[in-house]
Amino acid sequence: MSAGESVTVDAPPKVNLRLLVGPVRPDGYHPLTTLMVALHGPADRVTVARADERRVTCPGIEGPANLAWAALDALEAEAGESLPPLAVDIGKVLPAQAGIGGGSSDAAATLMAADRLLGLHLGAERLERAAAAVGSDVPFFIRGGAQWATGRGEVLRPADAPPFECVIVAPGSGLSTAAVYAAFDALPAPPPDDAVPVPQSAAGLANWCRNDLWPAARSLDDSLEALHADLEAVGAAPALLCGSGSAMCAIAPDADAADGLADRITRARPGMQVLRAGFPGATAQPA
Ligand code: C5P
Repeated sequence: MSAGESVTVDAPPKVNLRLLVGPVRPDGYHPLTTLMVALHGPADRVTVARADERRVTCPGIEGPANLAWAALDALEAEAGESLPPLAVDIGKVLPAQAGIGGGSSDAAATLMAADRLLGLHLGAERLERAAAAVGSDVPFFIRGGAQWATGRGEVLRPADAPPFECVIVAPGSGLSTAAVYAAFDALPAPPPDDAVPVPQSAAGLANWCRNDLWPAARSLDDSLEALHADLEAVGAAPALLCGSGSAMCAIAPDADAADGLADRITRARPGMQVLRAGFPGATAQPA
């Protein structure tokens, strides 16, 4: 295929280092205060090309059921004109329903790749608006880096975050985000925000992490408790549920420590998908 006929964009995973959840709003969404970071390491690869008719190919979730399809609809609505048919091909590496934003990241990569392929030049603000129509955490993946997200997750503000290495462990069974939030509603409210500033070292970060969806996720899948215990037994201290689950993240101070942890997790839990990732650190620019 000659240059200009397709555009490929990497779709990285995210981890919510802090995920504070408030009581459900009248529109059914929950108000969040969350620190999200886009991880370096394994990523899906999203290729967008011109085609005779729209197609989305992705192992496990093809066609209109894939968020990439909704992304093309949202792009067309934001552009205010009908766009030529596109084929989206997703090379899937990231586990689905794991809470690391794989589907949302693919949708954001689709928006960016299609914008580039078609020469729309919508700019970050309009791409983020289109992304918000696709899902609450899709705008985050347009920005990347480290962001505080509020609202239902779509209101973004650049954040400071230290560099760290991590291991993500995904059990074979995923969790539905909507089901986890519904379970959250049936449980006692989490403690208020203690508003402790983001620690500036990976060691401090690991103990600062918090996820208010953990009690809800483990109420839906009681095997998560044993996984959590196994991760901590091999040195993940502490193990953090990723987003609405079902994957867990262990933060490590450096690459050697993370590699060692990944080896021990693989031995303790053969057959689970273990991803090694990292974050290079971010400094929020003053407004
Ligand atoms: O926005 P998105 O489509 O990703 O959300 C999926 C589901 O997760 C929503 O329908 C809602 O049930 C739940 N959700 C929520 N509060 C949020 C984000 C998502 O309750 N802030």
